[in-house]
Amino acid sequence: MALDQHINIFFKDLFLSNKINFFDHWKSTHNKIYPEIPIDLNNVLTAIRINKNFYLCKYFMYVNNLEGDFFECGVLRGFSSYLLRSLEDNLSLNKINKYFLIDSFEGLSEITKSDIPLNPNLKIHKKGDLRENFETVEINFKEYNNVFLVKGWIPDVFDQLDQNNKYKFVHLDVDLYQPTLDSLEYIYEKVVKGGVIITDDYKSPLFPGNKKAWEHYFNSKNIKNWLALPSGQAAIIKS
Ligand SMILES: C[S@@+](CC[C@H](N)C(=O)[O-])C[C@H]1O[C@@H](n2cnc3c(N)ncnc32)[C@H](O)[C@@H]1O
Repeated sequence: MALDQHINIFFKDLFLSNKINFFDHWKSTHNKIYPEIPIDLNNVLTAIRINKNFYLCKYFMYVNNLEGDFFECGVLRGFSSYLLRSLEDNLSLNKINKYFLIDSFEGLSEITKSDIPLNPNLKIHKKGDLRENFETVEINFKEYNNVFLVKGWIPDVFDQLDQNNKYKFVHLDVDLYQPTLDSLEYIYEKVVKGGVIITDDYKSPLFPGNKKAWEHYFNSKNIKNWLALPSGQAAIIKS
């Protein structure tokens, strides 16, 4: 695929350790989770996703030596969580005890005023968009007995978790204002020192609620040591 050459300009020499080439790992994740969809490198969204996924992998590797579980809100078909879960094995990283993947598996919750894009030409999502079939996701993760799909609406779904759990890696990807804020309120105190929280849509024109929720939460706690990433995500290392 000739367009691979362009991606390789950025990613060819980016090995996730001396063993794994990032873009090879990304492609095999894509082929596993979306086998029916060819990789479309003409679509700028693909390049944005690849870039975000690279940051995810690097932060995931960064927490390798910490104790704690994995927590993702917003799973869809499981792309980002599979990318990271399979990286653990491929890089022989320290084993994470449990991976908690949280989603309604009924799509987005209620869209609020905070979620309406400023640009009137952008799509306004509605409740139930981005719905993924639970059984498909179960099949995708059946090779891993330490991955738990936790089905339900944020924040009520958190009642299904052991409240004493501690987490070293948190990925927030629920797009909307309210579930992002609810997730931060639930998870922040449960993240170990040095652990990472990364949110996917900080700079997304399509989902402006994510940035508002992130800033609302950290401003209200007067916490300033988070970083807006060039990829459009934002991340914090818990101090
Ligand atoms: C952008 S997708 C997640 C993408 C995924 N991380 C990936 O790599 O493909 C957003 C997900 O958030 C979930 N979601 C949105 N609002 C939710 C809520 N209030 N409670 C639970 N899940 C929610 C949707 O069901 C959807 O699967």
